[in-house]
Amino acid sequence: MIANSPKVTLHMVASLDGFIAKKDGSVGWLQSTDNYEKGVTLSDEEIEAFIKGIHCYVMGSRTYELALELGWPYGDVPVIVLTHRNLRSGRKNVKFYQGDLNKLINDQLKPNYQNIWVVGGAMVTKDFIRLKLVDEIVISIMPIILGDGILFFDYIKQEQHLHLEDVTAYKDGMVELRYSIKKD
Ligand SMILES: NC(=O)c1ccc[n+]([C@@H]2O[C@H](COP(=O)([O-])OP(=O)(O)OC[C@H]3O[C@@H](n4cnc5c(N)ncnc54)[C@H](OP(=O)(O)O)[C@@H]3O)[C@@H](O)[C@H]2O)c1
Repeated sequence: MIANSPKVTLHMVASLDGFIAKKDGSVGWLQSTDNYEKGVTLSDEEIEAFIKGIHCYVMGSRTYELALELGWPYGDVPVIVLTHRNLRSGRKNVKFYQGDLNKLINDQLKPNYQNIWVVGGAMVTKDFIRLKLVDEIVISIMPIILGDGILFFDYIKQEQHLHLEDVTAYKDGMVELRYSIKKD
C-alpha cells in the first residue's frame, strides 16, 4: 500500500493543430530544430529524476507496438498494455490487460503505484478522459502544424473544466501545459 494519494497523469505530445501522429506514422516531427531563446533546457540529472518519478505506464496496443519498433523507452518500469489480443512480451515489466479501465486504475494500479502515466494513443486517451480516470493532463505542443493525422481530442462529447497548474517553454520551442481536471 502506498502512503500518498496516487495520481493518474495523461501525457501526449501534439502539433499546434492537435495531431499526435502523422498518417504515415513517421515521428521526425517530434524532434524540433526551433530555438526559443527564453526557453529552458533540462539537465540529464533533471530528466533522470523526472523519469524516476513515474511508477507505472499505461498504453494502448498500437502505441506499444510502435514503441517496440522505434526502441523501447520505458526501461524496467511496469507497463500495462491494453489489448483484446493474445499478445506476449519477453519483458517481465510488461503486462497485458483487457476490459474495465475503472477496475484497472482503482483496483489494480492505484493501490500499488503513486504516479501512473497514461501515454496514449488517441483511443486510450479519449476513454480515460471520458471515464474521468485522469487527474492531470500534460500536453507538450511542438512548434509545427501537421495538417493531417490522428487527433488528440476529437469529439469527446463531454465538457470538463481544467485548472492550469503550470506552463513551461523549452529552448527547442516545445511548450508544456499542465492541467488538473476539476472534479465536481
Ligand atoms: N504524440 C504522442 O504523444 C503519442 C503518444 C502515443 C501514441 N501516439 C500515436 O498514436 C497512434 C496510436 O494511437 P491509436 O489511437 O491508434 O491506438 P492506441 O490507443 O495506442 O491503441 C488502441 C488499442 O488499444 C487496445 N485497447 C484500448 N482500450 C482497451 C481496453 N479497454 N481493453 C483492451 N484493449 C483496449 C485495443 O487493442 P487491440 O486492437 O489489440 O485489442 C485498441 O485497438 C500511433 O500512431 C502513435 O504514434 C502518439
